[in-house]
Amino acid sequence: MPSMASSKVNDGENSSQKPQLNGKFTEKHFRDGDLARRKLIQQQRKSLPIASVERRIVEEVRKNDTLIIVGETGSGKTTQLPQFLFNGGFCLDGKVIGVTQPRRVAAVTVAKRVAEECGVQLGHKVGYSIRFEDVTSSSTRIKFMTDGLLLREALLDPLLSKYSVIIVDEAHERTVHTDVLLGLLKGVQIARSRSTIQQTNLNKLKPGGETSDKKDEFLSTSSLKPCQGEKVSPLKVIIMSASLDARGFSEFFGGARAVHIQGRQYPVDIFYTFQAEPDYLDAALITIFQIHGEEGPGDILVFLTGQEEIESLERLVQEKVKQLPEASQKIFTVPIYSALPSDQQMQVFKPAPPGSRKVILATNIAETSVTIPGIRYVVDPGLVKARSYNPVTGMESLIIIPTSKAQALQRSGRAGREGPGKCFRLYAETEFGKLMDATVPEIKRCNLSNVVLQLKALGVDDVLGFDFMEKPSRMAILKSLEQLLVLGALTDDYKLSDPVGRQMARLPLDPIYAKSLIVASEFHCLEEMLITVAMLSVESIFYVPKEKQEEARAARKSFASLEGDHITLVNVFRASTECLEKSKKANMKEKSIEKSLNKWCWENFINSRSLRHARDVHSQIQGHVQQMGLLVSSCGDDMLQFRRCLAASFFLNAALKQPDGSYRALASSQMVQIHPSSVLFRAKPECIIFNELVRTNHNYIRNITRIDPLWLPELAPQYYAAQN
Ligand code: CDP
Ligand code: MG
Repeated sequence: MPSMASSKVNDGENSSQKPQLNGKFTEKHFRDGDLARRKLIQQQRKSLPIASVERRIVEEVRKNDTLIIVGETGSGKTTQLPQFLFNGGFCLDGKVIGVTQPRRVAAVTVAKRVAEECGVQLGHKVGYSIRFEDVTSSSTRIKFMTDGLLLREALLDPLLSKYSVIIVDEAHERTVHTDVLLGLLKGVQIARSRSTIQQTNLNKLKPGGETSDKKDEFLSTSSLKPCQGEKVSPLKVIIMSASLDARGFSEFFGGARAVHIQGRQYPVDIFYTFQAEPDYLDAALITIFQIHGEEGPGDILVFLTGQEEIESLERLVQEKVKQLPEASQKIFTVPIYSALPSDQQMQVFKPAPPGSRKVILATNIAETSVTIPGIRYVVDPGLVKARSYNPVTGMESLIIIPTSKAQALQRSGRAGREGPGKCFRLYAETEFGKLMDATVPEIKRCNLSNVVLQLKALGVDDVLGFDFMEKPSRMAILKSLEQLLVLGALTDDYKLSDPVGRQMARLPLDPIYAKSLIVASEFHCLEEMLITVAMLSVESIFYVPKEKQEEARAARKSFASLEGDHITLVNVFRASTECLEKSKKANMKEKSIEKSLNKWCWENFINSRSLRHARDVHSQIQGHVQQMGLLVSSCGDDMLQFRRCLAASFFLNAALKQPDGSYRALASSQMVQIHPSSVLFRAKPECIIFNELVRTNHNYIRNITRIDPLWLPELAPQYYAAQN
């Protein structure tokens, strides 16, 4: 690529064909090729690097209780290994092979792919289970799930007795759940092998022979003790990683064996910009169209930091496509990110119609979690959204930071899977040298309240003594214990409280949100809080296109509440419910109901993808709280009551206005500012609670409600009475 900074765009291939559709493919496109597709899939499976070592790997799993498998992305680890083990007899007696993924999208898309490869209906032999969505049945033998979900299962079944094998996939990502899971699985393995020993050969068990002191220590701090007479076979644990360094995992599992799968990687040419790009979205846009104009066939993968960014680049590309001559309009976008509704996720795998080019706009999910065929070009702005935690203030925030070198290499590698490729890094070459070698494990940079609550619920009372692969700082653990104490999840001697702590642990939400639902049932506004929590779980409900900012603002005004963003979100949700009910009353078919909701979203500048996701989450959490026997009632229009409930729930995130118009967060004394997207941006009330801290060049807070400062000592005396 001669000059990446120029915005010149060529006409592309000379073709007189009518332009292909700009958006999605028709179903027919695929049904026509059903048989051909089956054949193609079998061919693809056979040609994967892992295919030639099937027997050897199955043998290794038989011989070793713990195995580490290292292999480049796309070598077939995730899709093939579970099938190898199934065929190798690891599911006898109805046992299940569990595969954990750090990301929901990966669990879903991979399960769909494996079901297709096996020629079975999803949810039967092959299924998936993620928070708020369970597509498994009693006949499921290969189960994909998020690592967080398996942790939750361990609450009910501490020995994970239905599993014969647990595959911890994408372990190199070192998400907080992966790290906790590794510690937990180590304990489960010991407990299960003990139980087997007790079962099969009690006489042979020598004191201190099978279990080292260290293992005993772990067991004594947890509830992982096999019940008398319970029959469980040993648990096989397989750790899969795309990073070459297996040492850490191997050491943690007492010198576990590691095997490497030879990858197949074509050369990838790397290009850098001459200097730093001030607007990387614009630079990405220019690069996409330069590739489209000047380079040969092949799809483009662009790495972005989140849904909002993906959607704005999606719009920019679509606008620019319209300006191209008709013949070169054969380029279209497909997004992929975690909160994408699952029916849309698979679009990314569908091949581009012949002669056209697909531009995949992805978060770091496409780094290693999902392998998308057809990519020849990678555009990498070199950034990633990450959690960051300050243990002194106890505040967690989201920040956009440079990727590590390892991530940059993974990203460029995506271009060389099927042939030589090109990667365009939108930063200067000198910057690459300054990147960190690898990402810091998430457990060292997040709020640990969730982890601590889960461990407590699993019976691990001594959290500081838990066998973490990499120990988080003592201060971070203590801060979380303190937070859980003021939330009422722990008793004064730091034991899980009953019922509050136990209920909080059962809800698949951050402790502060779980608690807010319990508080809300006491304030008789659980209906409003359910909506709030669901709406807060999605990235952007409002849609503000650049060219229609005024209209979008006016539309938002019709939902806005002077009291703040939470009630504004409740108003949007309620209005969408009204729209749905109207359609249902008119006896519309399901497709038409959905269409009219989409139309309503469009007219009101609401992001329909996000709204649908929030509605899904809402119905799922509602199911949970109903099961728990919480009272779901509404405070109707008594928003004072609801605001008091918000104050009672989110008192840890209260802030007071300062003379200069900024705010001081009371718990941390940190100075913060109201984000321009908040309905309270101009009003600037005296005292507020907020839900999110986003650090850019400012410490911005988002999702804010006005409260009365006197409510704090009244509603959270355990925190504010002691402080003032
Ligand atoms: O786990 P690993 O990165 O080693 O590879 P994988 O996810 O098992 O993917 C193996 C191959 O399956 C990839 O090369 C993709 O071409 C294909 N695949 C696909 O076409 N559709 C999916 N949903 C998942 C994988
Ligand atoms: Mg994989």
